[in-house]
Amino acid sequence: MNYTEKVMDHFMNPRNVGKIEDANAIAEVGNPSCGDVIKMYLKINGEMIEDIKFQTFGCGAAIAVSSQTTEMVKGKSLKEALDITRDQVADELGGLPAVKMHCSNLAADALHQAVKTYMKEHGIA
Ligand code: FES
Repeated sequence: MNYTEKVMDHFMNPRNVGKIEDANAIAEVGNPSCGDVIKMYLKINGEMIEDIKFQTFGCGAAIAVSSQTTEMVKGKSLKEALDITRDQVADELGGLPAVKMHCSNLAADALHQAVKTYMKEHGIA
């Protein structure tokens, strides 16, 4: 299977791994087909994502995608985070092998779920 150098880099040196103790938005998403799970922790201030970390119990592609996603949204607004698609994350990594494209779903889905829940709880439209 051919992974891009960028995928390998994010897999070998994942950014923003771990847990944010005082996170105010958390989401956990699982992939029923493989059993892998991603948990995202966000520290949101107003409408800005100040910090984001992840814990991924999954394949290398899922770890790389999680890492890439956190880099794309740190310091961005909630609306900008919602605009990030699964395909954009995979594109930023230079693509994923076709059989691993489903792995790109988890991180974006977890991010969107955390942001939407936060917006709902705080009355942000
Ligand atoms: Fe499960 Fe990649 S094989 S997310």
